[in-house]
Amino acid sequence: MYRIRGNYYILETNDTSLILKRKEKSMEYVYYGEKISDYTGMELMEGERDGWGNQTPLSLFTQCGGTDFREPSLLVRFGDGSMATDFELVVARVCARPSGENLPLAYGAEKSLKLEYVDRPSGLKLTLYYTAFEKANTISVIARLHNGGKKEATILRLSSLQYEKWGVEEDFITFDGAWGCERRRHERKVSFTKIENSVFGGSSSHHHNPFVMLKGEDGAIGFNLLWSGSHRETAESDLSGRTRVVVGMGGNGFCYRLGAGEDFTAPEGVMAYGRTEEELRHAFHTFTLEHIVRGKWQKKARPVLFNNWEGTYFSFTREKILSLARKAAEVGAELFVLDDGWFGRRDDDRTSLGDWTDYEEKTGGLASLAEEIRGMGLKFGIWMEPEMVSEDSELYRKHPEYAMKIPKREPTRMRNQLMLNLADPQVQGYVFRAISRVLTMTKASYLKWDYNRYMTDCFDKNTPGGEYEYRYMVGLYSILQKLTERFPNVLFEGCASGGGRYDLGALCYFSQMWTSDDTDAKERLSIQSGTAICYHQSTMGNHVSASPNEQTGNSCSLENRFRVALGGVFGYELDLEKLSSEELEEIKEQISFYKEYRELLQFGEYHEITGEGVGGYLISSADGSMAICTIASQGKEFGRSNVRVKFVGFEEKCSYHVLARGNHGGVKEVGVASSDLLKKGNFPTEILFSSANPREYSNPLYVATFLFLKVCAKYPLDKFVKE
Ligand code: DGJ
Repeated sequence: MYRIRGNYYILETNDTSLILKRKEKSMEYVYYGEKISDYTGMELMEGERDGWGNQTPLSLFTQCGGTDFREPSLLVRFGDGSMATDFELVVARVCARPSGENLPLAYGAEKSLKLEYVDRPSGLKLTLYYTAFEKANTISVIARLHNGGKKEATILRLSSLQYEKWGVEEDFITFDGAWGCERRRHERKVSFTKIENSVFGGSSSHHHNPFVMLKGEDGAIGFNLLWSGSHRETAESDLSGRTRVVVGMGGNGFCYRLGAGEDFTAPEGVMAYGRTEEELRHAFHTFTLEHIVRGKWQKKARPVLFNNWEGTYFSFTREKILSLARKAAEVGAELFVLDDGWFGRRDDDRTSLGDWTDYEEKTGGLASLAEEIRGMGLKFGIWMEPEMVSEDSELYRKHPEYAMKIPKREPTRMRNQLMLNLADPQVQGYVFRAISRVLTMTKASYLKWDYNRYMTDCFDKNTPGGEYEYRYMVGLYSILQKLTERFPNVLFEGCASGGGRYDLGALCYFSQMWTSDDTDAKERLSIQSGTAICYHQSTMGNHVSASPNEQTGNSCSLENRFRVALGGVFGYELDLEKLSSEELEEIKEQISFYKEYRELLQFGEYHEITGEGVGGYLISSADGSMAICTIASQGKEFGRSNVRVKFVGFEEKCSYHVLARGNHGGVKEVGVASSDLLKKGNFPTEILFSSANPREYSNPLYVATFLFLKVCAKYPLDKFVKE
């Protein structure tokens, strides 16, 4: 909803208001936060200014020139070397939301507030489109520069979104890590020294997710980008008492030559407000589900998958794959994913990327293998790493010029591989055709798109240096756009060594993501929690893998691995042939439990459970009548019995059956509790854990999973209890 009151422009979502004020040549932030029911008196919210640097307005963007010396969001260099611009606001009106950009855009909103500025001496035009996504309580910004002058100008920076507010007592929260330990939460106070969350390896990365949060007394504001490349988010306060956040593309040496008549668009930036983190998470979950993930799989129940990677790595035969598939079908999996190693001469990671042809000696014929797996009642899915090339490959021998390399320099090899130069349309065409052939030949219903290195040797003879990464990403997105259009029924799962490209740009094409290569249940608790703060759980791939865990060596019971993995899109990734018949029976029961509650687990409302030393999640139905909750305590200290937990997400004034999963599956009732008590009561985890938990010695992890059912005719207890 957009309201214009004199010089005030108001964007409303269901629960938030953003107030902007037009002032002669500019537009300024006045307020962003909880929804205002009556806007009378807006003019009293601002004082007069005298134009000195520490009294500049709360700006929507900051340029070079003028008296604002904090982090800029727009930098342009002209032919004579000068950089000052003076953009004046000339248009402010509600219009149709832009579409058809070469970058992914959120969908599901028709109108935007369009703000158009011109820099008269150069003829540059800056347009900002502010869009309100009402139900998601999210505001987005699309920033576009048009060169309406006669001379080329070089863009050195066009950030996606700049936001500022009064107040300096804010925490800046980021989600950082590395391969295998992604999205760990870090909090620090915003200070007068700028804080920067950034990466320049050409992907949104394992190291610093582009989602950041500003949290203070007035609530939490989250920021993110529809962009999968290098990015940069900064936060700073100043002595006049303001805090500014700027988010946008990053990368070393970005510069883009904008010729006369040309346009450049920055990735769409988003921000959402919540009075609490819980509200903010809910806003971003709604935004991801309703405005980012699209196509057939947007809200469609995802299959329980079985992936052979951690079960076999590269060493498999057709017989091994078939017997794994047979076992997977027997225990109830629905999709079999053949991971790395099926193509070229791929027996290890030194060879064959780019040769997307059947390794027949190994597969015994890929098309017939897929057919045989389908004959077992499973769907067939396949792994590819389409952006890469091995030097030991037919593709490289024939087309060394397709690789991303700088002439006369040794390229950096990560995982023994080079990247393909997707800035080149010819290479884009090759990649599109190769993937299409594999999907057509195998009739696959699922593609796992892997990406196992960072971008280092950016060069293309037809692309000016500073534009490389942008043009690469545009090339990548155009391949993904065409593929998802050509194969609308295929479920695309994104993977970048697990979790290395988990962002809103990628989720416009991949309905789900392999969250992390670390499948250790204990580690997963924080990885999943750091992911779910922004991204909906239906995008989060969680697998049960072997114990001891292949990455960490920690042991964990099958039931506890299951309890942790439940909260998202679910599967198994281990050698089923190494399991006992009892374990296979357990898995069968787990899969049938998951299927029974799949809609709830994948598309219900996700809440975080927190308490001293305790973490976990609770996923409730939209009406709050049913919920599943997993709580875990890591490294319980001996003798402490005061670790307590409160639950969230229930209907007011109701009673709930509390059912606990048993150590080897099944569910039994442990009692009835009122919703009020569940919310406020401080339940001792000692009791919860001992009622439903096997003790873990090598990996001190205490996990319990509960099913809550509203006491009502809709939920006859005997239908749910399974001893
Ligand atoms: C990294 C992925 O995260 C794994 O799941 C697996 O697909 C390997 N790559 C295969 O090389």
